[in-house]
Amino acid sequence: MPGVLLEEPLLQSRGATLRKLAPTFAAEIVGLDLSSAPSVEAFQEIKDAVTKYGVVVIRQTNLTDESHIALGRQFGELDDITPYLAAGRKNRLKYVELFDVSNVEEDGSIVPLTSPKGQHGKGNSLFHVDSSFNPRRAGFSLLLAHELPPPNMGGATAFADTRTAYDDLSDDLKAELVSQNYIAFHSMHHSRKLASPEYFADLDPTQYPMGKHRLVQRHEASGRMNLYVAAHVHHLEGPDGQQPPAKLFEDLYKHACDDKYVVQIEWQNAGDMIIWDNTCVMHRALGGEFRTKYRRDMRRVTVHDGSSTAWGLNEKTDKRAGMP
Ligand code: OGA
Ligand code: MN
Repeated sequence: MPGVLLEEPLLQSRGATLRKLAPTFAAEIVGLDLSSAPSVEAFQEIKDAVTKYGVVVIRQTNLTDESHIALGRQFGELDDITPYLAAGRKNRLKYVELFDVSNVEEDGSIVPLTSPKGQHGKGNSLFHVDSSFNPRRAGFSLLLAHELPPPNMGGATAFADTRTAYDDLSDDLKAELVSQNYIAFHSMHHSRKLASPEYFADLDPTQYPMGKHRLVQRHEASGRMNLYVAAHVHHLEGPDGQQPPAKLFEDLYKHACDDKYVVQIEWQNAGDMIIWDNTCVMHRALGGEFRTKYRRDMRRVTVHDGSSTAWGLNEKTDKRAGMP
């Protein structure tokens, strides 16, 4: 059968098939019902697929809030939204382990684009990785669709392959990046401001803590090098503490966002879930006509990175960024 990869025998024995979505990364699994938890071995095949392909969409999972969170726990320690609640945001959802990535208000109405939540959500339309601005960055994200707009109204999610983007850099540039070993400073406030400059005009990102991570690092799980870039990056710092010209980062980020590294994944049905590894791919929300007309109810379980570079150069504190 085309698309069946023999490396996933347990998934296949559950009636599932896996196919690649693009030449260098991204895969789709169909026929995998997750209403009963996968065995440790079958789970390992899912995790291995996410490590290899960077992003995997699993169609019609039949997951609930509870089994979604339970699946996340199989991947590692979970992040939660308590910093956002502390900053005054209300939780529409039942569990603090669910990040509300929807355009839905507590009363079920649609979030106006001009409201604080709407303005804040705009940041997700820039290519980013999750939680790199916090002391401990995110590893896997599991985004589950609960309610989708009608087809052709937009609302797809795009992914960028930052491992291949690194591979394709010139040898000279790679040598420079490796020898300078730049530190990137990640700020949620910076990306919010980039996406919504007028609304956040008075916000000064330098007044808040930033997450420090190496710009170039090895993705431990796959052994491949990765360009760890995101819209959250406010600036770089070299070994002497000096900032290189801003153009260096701008060019690298633009390179990684090039169409040739990007795949767009359409959400087809409620119950579809996309799992990605934030330490080797970026992602962004594509807008669309639906935004003011239809609910798009998306809930994310976020797994703390478990690799040796999870904390980057940050202090190991639980202090995380929050916004109302
Ligand atoms: C996220 C995110 C994009 C989308 O869940 O972290 O950025 O398409 N989502 O909803
Ligand atoms: Mn995100």
